Amino acid sequence: MNTSPKTIFITGASSGIGKDAVLFFAQKGWNVVATMRSIDTVEPEFKHSNILLAQLDITDTSSIKKAYDQTLARFGSVDVIVNNAGYALTGVFETMKSEDIERQFKTNVFGTMNVIRQFLPYFREKKSGLIITVTSMGGLITFPLYSPYHGTKWALEGFLESLRYELRPFGIRLKNIEPGAIKTGFYTALEFSSSEDYKNYTDKMEKSMGKVIGKAPGPEVVTREIWKAANDRSDRFRYPASMTGKVFLLFRKIFPFFIWERVSRIVTEGKF
Ligand SMILES: NC(=O)c1ccc[n+]([C@@H]2O[C@H](COP(=O)([O-])OP(=O)(O)OC[C@H]3O[C@@H](n4cnc5c(N)ncnc54)[C@H](OP(=O)(O)O)[C@@H]3O)[C@@H](O)[C@H]2O)c1
Repeated sequence: MNTSPKTIFITGASSGIGKDAVLFFAQKGWNVVATMRSIDTVEPEFKHSNILLAQLDITDTSSIKKAYDQTLARFGSVDVIVNNAGYALTGVFETMKSEDIERQFKTNVFGTMNVIRQFLPYFREKKSGLIITVTSMGGLITFPLYSPYHGTKWALEGFLESLRYELRPFGIRLKNIEPGAIKTGFYTALEFSSSEDYKNYTDKMEKSMGKVIGKAPGPEVVTREIWKAANDRSDRFRYPASMTGKVFLLFRKIFPFFIWERVSRIVTEGKF
């Protein structure tokens, strides 16, 4: 039996879910590749013998290739990759610049594709590999004022669901982690666009969404699901994370869209 530690490669490890997962897997004895856009000022927790820090921007294919090469040189193999990097462009669609919308898709969708594509020949050759992607409950349901972000996460859910078919014969498994609201840098990093015409609506929305986010759990609830997905050896595809993620996704699965839409409006707009 092979008892050498497994290796996990994680994107967007500078903060939030990615950082929490890096520290958790390292503490469990895994080799961890913590990739992030800037490794110039890295926090002391990352100085751990099992952790390799690598600079990687998911929109830059040469940085992905470099991080991949560094990983194989240091650990010799990779078992799991976690596509976690992402951010949200939010607000009123009409007021958004097209270049900002394009950057949102270039990061969340095409960036994730870039990372997966780098690892496919390697995983195919070794006839195994696990690709975990942190999508969102917002990849299967929607809330107001997140339209481009939902567009990216719905795109990922469809892309990855289809990709499972062609990769299964090569022993490559895909799993999605679908968190509800989680207290991380996500809400400070989000980009917001609006105008005076929409002010009544956006002010109201900000208040109600603020309440939901205020009660959100920390990233450890997502790390728990990533850990489960990395270790359970199953063919399960979707792992909702956090109570809101689990409850909303179950509700959406059971009830038709018009019922879900009413619930979503009650939660966000306070109206039936
Ligand atoms: N928090 C939530 O409520 C929530 C809910 C559902 C899903 N998610 C998803 O969870 C994932 C992690 O988010 P989080 O909550 O942990 O937020 P976070 O603390 O803001 O972390 C996001 C990470 O993504 C990185 N990133 C952004 N653009 C990148 C790029 N082009 N290349 C490489 N890294 C990039 C950021 O790096 P920098 O430090 O360089 O900016 C940061 O490390 C995201 O995909 C998000 O959509 C979050």
